[in-house]
Amino acid sequence: MRIDIYTIFTPIFESPLREGLLGKAVRGGVLDVRVHDIRDHAEGKHRQVDDAPFGGGPGMVLKPEPVFAAVTSTLGYGMDELEKLKEKVRVIMLTPRGRRMDQAVVAELAAQPHIALICGRYEGVDERVTEHLCTDALSVGDYVLSGGEFAALVVVEAVTRLVPGVIGNEESLVEESFSRGLLEYPQYTRPAEYRGWRVPDVLTSGDHEAVERWRRERAEEFTRMKQPGPSLPGGGDDTR
Ligand SMILES: C[S@@+](CC[C@H](N)C(=O)[O-])C[C@H]1O[C@@H](n2cnc3c(N)ncnc32)[C@H](O)[C@@H]1O
Repeated sequence: MRIDIYTIFTPIFESPLREGLLGKAVRGGVLDVRVHDIRDHAEGKHRQVDDAPFGGGPGMVLKPEPVFAAVTSTLGYGMDELEKLKEKVRVIMLTPRGRRMDQAVVAELAAQPHIALICGRYEGVDERVTEHLCTDALSVGDYVLSGGEFAALVVVEAVTRLVPGVIGNEESLVEESFSRGLLEYPQYTRPAEYRGWRVPDVLTSGDHEAVERWRRERAEEFTRMKQPGPSLPGGGDDTR
């Protein structure tokens, strides 16, 4: 899978793309992640990427020209080929005003061969970028970050977990929270007793059916507590 990221703060991506599963996937060629500096595509001596908002108000807005230039030139399309570009690549504006990301959105994006993520800063990006260059607008949650970089990393991290070859043991994805409409059951490891706190006896019983039953019940219980709703009987109101 290929992911192109557009930002004015490229160093933010260095360590996350080097470490852990992401780093391994990048080094192994399963993921082709390219980080582009929008400023490299700005014109003029000062390579200005932002300007004051029309209509007044606080802060600055990222200008459209360098963003259009960055995306089209790095993906190999002309300004008169935007529709063709959008047919081939999901171009995603990260914004608190976008569609809220959940595991269904993540699965949808993981099925794409190529996505591009545009990171805003300051008061955001000139709206013409979303209107004419982007296929999607995506929010990572109902709160405001200072920039789209950490939102982009959330998208990359969540999406690439579902790309075949990224997670060694793909079985772990099957039971994972949200994958079957249930949150995952709690996990324990050795020691079986720590400071007098024992792991549930069933997990050390060797009775696989009982373990399966216990896990299913705990998964349903956790799901009811966190997501009270009609799909499971007796939804509680605990929001932990
Ligand atoms: C300070 S925010 C701009 C907020 C904007 N003025 C508003 O009130 O909607 C700067 C940038 O951070 C990114 N950002 C902030 N919160 C986000 C979220 N919840 N999801 C995705 N991107 C976000 C966007 O790229 C945005 O352009």
